[in-house]
Amino acid sequence: METDVGKMETDFGKMEIGVAKNAGHSINGHAMCPFSGKIAVQNQKHEKPNLKLKVPQPIRLKNHLVSEENYDVLHSQIDEVASFNTKCTEKVCQNSIMDIPNRGDSPRSEEEVYKEAQAFLKQYFSSIRRENTDAHISRLHEVERELKEKGTYQLKTPELVFGAKLAWRNASRCIGRIQWKKLQIFDCRAVTTASGMFEALCNHIKYATNKGNIRSAITIFPQRTDGKHDYRIWSPQLISYAGYIEPDGSILGDPARVEFTEVCIKLGWKPPRTAWDILPIVVSADGKDPEYFDIPREIVMEVKMEHPKYEWFKDLGLQWYALPAVSNMSLDCGGLEFTGTAFNGWYMGTEIGCRNFCDSNRLNIVESIANKMGLDTNSYVSLWKDKALVEVNIAVLNSFHRDNVSIVDHHSASEQFIKHLDNENKSRGGCPSDWVWIVPPMSSSLTSVFHQEMALYYLRPSYDYQEPAWKTHQWVKSEDKPRTRKFHFKQIARAVKFTSKLFGQALSKRIKATILYATETGKSEQYAKELGTIFGHAFNAQVHCMSEYDVFSIEHETLLLIVTSTFGNGEPPANGEEFAKHLLQMLYNEKKNQGDQVDSAGTVKVHTPKSLIRTNSAMTPSIDYKKQLSRMESNKNSNAIDYKRQLSRLESNKSSITASTPEIIGPLSNVCYAVFALGSSAYPKYCNFGKTMDRVLEELGGERLLELTCGDEMCGQEQQFRSWSSNIFQVACESFCLEENEMVKNAKKSFGMMPLTEETVRFNRAEKQQCLKTALEQSYRKQIVTCHVKENKHLGEVSNDRATIFVDMESTTELNYDPGDHVGVMACNRSEIVDAVLKRLKGVDNFERPVQLQVMKEKLTPTGTVKSWERHERIPVATIRQIFTRFLDITTPPSTKVLKYLASACTDENEADYLRELIEDSNKYDDWMHHYYPHLAEVFSQVPSCRPQASLLAALLPPLQPRFYSISSSSLEHPNKIHVTVAVVVYKTQNGEGSTHYGVCSTYLQSLKPKDEVYVFTRRAPSFHMPQDISVPLILVGPGSGIAPFRGFWHHRRRQILDNSTNGKKPGPIYLLFGCRYKGMDLYKDEKEQLVSEGVLTKSLLALSREEGVSKKHVQALLEDEGAYITRMLVDEGGHFYVCGDCKMAEEVQQKLKDVIKRHARYSDEEADDFILFLMDENRYHEDIFGITLRTSIVHKASRESAKRTRLQSMQSFCLS
Ligand SMILES: Cc1cc2nc3c(=O)[nH]c(=O)nc-3n(C[C@H](O)[C@H](O)[C@H](O)COP(=O)(O)OP(=O)(O)OC[C@H]3O[C@@H](n4cnc5c(N)ncnc54)[C@H](O)[C@@H]3O)c2cc1C
Ligand SMILES: Cc1cc2nc3c(=O)[nH]c(=O)nc-3n(C[C@H](O)[C@H](O)[C@H](O)COP(=O)(O)O)c2cc1C
Repeated sequence: METDVGKMETDFGKMEIGVAKNAGHSINGHAMCPFSGKIAVQNQKHEKPNLKLKVPQPIRLKNHLVSEENYDVLHSQIDEVASFNTKCTEKVCQNSIMDIPNRGDSPRSEEEVYKEAQAFLKQYFSSIRRENTDAHISRLHEVERELKEKGTYQLKTPELVFGAKLAWRNASRCIGRIQWKKLQIFDCRAVTTASGMFEALCNHIKYATNKGNIRSAITIFPQRTDGKHDYRIWSPQLISYAGYIEPDGSILGDPARVEFTEVCIKLGWKPPRTAWDILPIVVSADGKDPEYFDIPREIVMEVKMEHPKYEWFKDLGLQWYALPAVSNMSLDCGGLEFTGTAFNGWYMGTEIGCRNFCDSNRLNIVESIANKMGLDTNSYVSLWKDKALVEVNIAVLNSFHRDNVSIVDHHSASEQFIKHLDNENKSRGGCPSDWVWIVPPMSSSLTSVFHQEMALYYLRPSYDYQEPAWKTHQWVKSEDKPRTRKFHFKQIARAVKFTSKLFGQALSKRIKATILYATETGKSEQYAKELGTIFGHAFNAQVHCMSEYDVFSIEHETLLLIVTSTFGNGEPPANGEEFAKHLLQMLYNEKKNQGDQVDSAGTVKVHTPKSLIRTNSAMTPSIDYKKQLSRMESNKNSNAIDYKRQLSRLESNKSSITASTPEIIGPLSNVCYAVFALGSSAYPKYCNFGKTMDRVLEELGGERLLELTCGDEMCGQEQQFRSWSSNIFQVACESFCLEENEMVKNAKKSFGMMPLTEETVRFNRAEKQQCLKTALEQSYRKQIVTCHVKENKHLGEVSNDRATIFVDMESTTELNYDPGDHVGVMACNRSEIVDAVLKRLKGVDNFERPVQLQVMKEKLTPTGTVKSWERHERIPVATIRQIFTRFLDITTPPSTKVLKYLASACTDENEADYLRELIEDSNKYDDWMHHYYPHLAEVFSQVPSCRPQASLLAALLPPLQPRFYSISSSSLEHPNKIHVTVAVVVYKTQNGEGSTHYGVCSTYLQSLKPKDEVYVFTRRAPSFHMPQDISVPLILVGPGSGIAPFRGFWHHRRRQILDNSTNGKKPGPIYLLFGCRYKGMDLYKDEKEQLVSEGVLTKSLLALSREEGVSKKHVQALLEDEGAYITRMLVDEGGHFYVCGDCKMAEEVQQKLKDVIKRHARYSDEEADDFILFLMDENRYHEDIFGITLRTSIVHKASRESAKRTRLQSMQSFCLS
């Protein structure tokens, strides 16, 4: 049967659903008027790429409504990425001819594929800023090789993701392309059967429908190979209504589907024969005969139509499905043709209201509506058709809105498209657009697109029309014989369940979950890996450290989970810095493009990425954020009408509410994300880096799956992580429509489970001992330098609780560092604690023999599960004594995970219960931990019956972290040496009443004698370096051991002066502001006096906080005293400001500096804030933060109290609500 039903629109573009009048003719040739070539040859076999651009000239495109012009230059790419025919001739433009050609069923030759692959990979690698790099070149070689060996090649998943989105971006007929970045790709290239295809398509429907908040998605099945094994979806749309010819010639249901309905019936489908029968999904896999599957009704969402004014409208019984999912087009990408694809956006109202309901060859309801409305249908002049059409469209929009189903009205869609054109012109130099298709079918001239000139051309990757599958399929069985197979969803579910575990996993793990962590002391890494194990049950989970992650692929992520701590003063851990900079650069570029932050003078004001990172360390995030928001708000207010319009568009287009405004589809709009932030409420900028990441991802368009969760080291961090990980897993499964299957159940079971057991970890004897330096290098992945101690002495007087030491270390090799850099010291645990721990271990007879810690790993292979012993990734070959001395942290109070194991290793039930109570009650655990702060040996002393297995305990304990010290020397002065200034940590637990604890590293350093070996590494701290320009003033603020780096500064400056290497410039003034308790604790007193007398230091000021007879002073007071000079140096003379030491002090100093500048420069509060930001922007405000070590007990006590209060309050309010 032949019906010419014209075109039907979807949000991806209006599409041809009719059957070509001349079924024998190939529908060929894309209309490309601007570059008319010769008439296209209709027969595919003779097709020649005869569209040759002579000299591509920019095409001027005018908007006649606003008299604006732009120039399309993008079309010049078509020579490179495509060679395709056009129907247009030099004399005739055939732009409005609906038959859009395809390139036929014949597979491409290898040469053609390679040419297309080259063009595509060029685009891909340029998108990740890797064009012409080794990676790009080696990928081309790989493709070439694969093509030669197999006749085809496989796209990598990120390439496919990129290609699918780009194909949408290139779809010239689609008005909804502003959303092109927001497309979920279901990579189903591993599916091999029709039932597998159906299962994937059901998943697509569920995911995309999303209870009405429609999400754009595409499912992609295996590519064409020889043309005889195609994967095809026969259904033109995944969801559509059947159409039947009644005996009287009328049509029941949708006339557009009459032919496909007949195909379904022929296949054996039993039609219910009502007006609203959902057709089955028909698919063919691997060139085999098609199979049909009923779609479970519960996953099909439909909207019943009613009119806000006309009561009678609902009695018409009209309805439509929510999800427009086109499923008969192919994706042409990188030379490969994906013949089985299904994709969806959401409806534009007119697609249903005008085309589906009112086209005369569709449901054709205009006249009956007009009659119901009482219009005069006798004469066109009454415009009864137009009036009725409007009301039908109102009913459609109204009904979708009523049911909270995404839909966009044609006015909003039109404006969004104009905005998209603008974006594309800026970012790409043009946008191929088919005016005939873009302009809505109703009230055309009222929409802005009507007045816009457009250039039509064809770019690859692309979505292309294909002949209907039933016209081209090579039947294996007889075509006339009805197919007997019929599947229902439940049967399929069962079938899938029984397929091999491997197949099941491959299917369900097609959604990638990327887990990124940044850590300084290892907790975030540990949590991220735990999360990876949980997500690995249901997703394709990959865990990376931020520093090892290719940040350019972030745009192609689907599910991104961030686990990160905060360091310094609200800053990223070192291994998160580059990642943070990249994201902030992205944000900066975005904001710049949007011209978002405009100050009162109308100039664009955007912080540089650097300052954005620093900003977060300079202000509380809320203030910073409020500032940003108020700037944005003021923009909005300045154009209130635009803002209102934007709002109403948001109402019209619900799907985009979640992320950003429809006009601003950020680069990460496709990325669902969640952040777990580790931190300590003892620090003023609590979890600041995690908070920043959460906000930046949102601003870049990411979709937040779960509110940011902070894990407070002061109170229940572990507990918070456990509940977050369980919540995010649940939400991610829901969001990606993962069924409650075996794998998900397994994942749920694994929450709180011990990742390792006594059976899966062992110490294996190693042949020979590894040298310690190599072992440390292997374990910490750092290049270690061996130093020998030259001198170790006390600085100033030693009191009961305060001692500061100076250690001079020398290496045989030259050390590469600048003043301001850090040295990492690989410490040792004290032998008393190690011995006490070793005494308790079972399963070891010799602590001095080298062993290798091994873990049992399970791998899924095609032949089943294979178990093998693998070396532990962090613990190298060493003796057990060395492992517990050098590699494991045995002094931080054990985590609940370790306690859980210790409980199981107790033979005395009371002791086990004691530990279990701590594990089960997080408040109790926190109180216990903060009061006793027990190291492992102290825990053992509380549970004498506990005898854990050495290997499992070693695998569960966290690694012993290196400690950082600010280098107190200059390599200019002492090329092979490193000096450190170390405050020795000694304290009594239980509020000063308990046992004495000794800081691991500071006590270790204190114990070193001349000639002892120390293993160290240097770490760059470029943000704390001295300025290049020697003439600018420096203000150095560093109380206590905070003076450490400044000694390096003055040694460096002195050597520069002595060597006459000041580039002819006069060295600028240096003010040193130092503070300590008593005069006797004044560090480097003699050296400072000497330098002042030599003129290297301009002023060396001292604040004493506890000296009898001297008024109590802190460094802040010194700032106040020198306020006028300091302000002048910073405001007028380009001075640099440095603060070093504990975090609270740094915070107070910044506040004081702000006050001082405000007063002396006569700035307003906001101006003073901005000035400090400006200093940071200019890299003139520097902080080197040690943490809170020396003030631990005071700060911890206060913040524990407040953390507990906050937790209690939030629990109370939770209970009340
Ligand atoms: C970038 C950077 C630079 C640094 N530069 C220097 C420097 O130049 N000089 C310097 O001296 N330090 C410096 N530090 C600090 C240094 O790295 C160590 O943190 C410090 O030496 C303590 O280490 P430790 O191993 O001796 O103590 P740890 O064994 O790590 O013990 C310290 C921990 O014990 C606990 N604790 C401490 N006191 C108490 C108390 N009273 N009550 C309860 N618990 C307590 C706290 O949890 C504290 O974190 C720097 C830190 C950083 C991050
Ligand atoms: C030197 C130092 C600085 C820190 N600065 C902050 C901070 O500014 N804000 C915060 O919330 N936590 C801060 N912390 C606490 C850490 O974020 C916290 O210990 C976290 O649990 C460490 O996680 P990690 O092991 O993954 O690095 C700091 C800790 C140290 C030692």
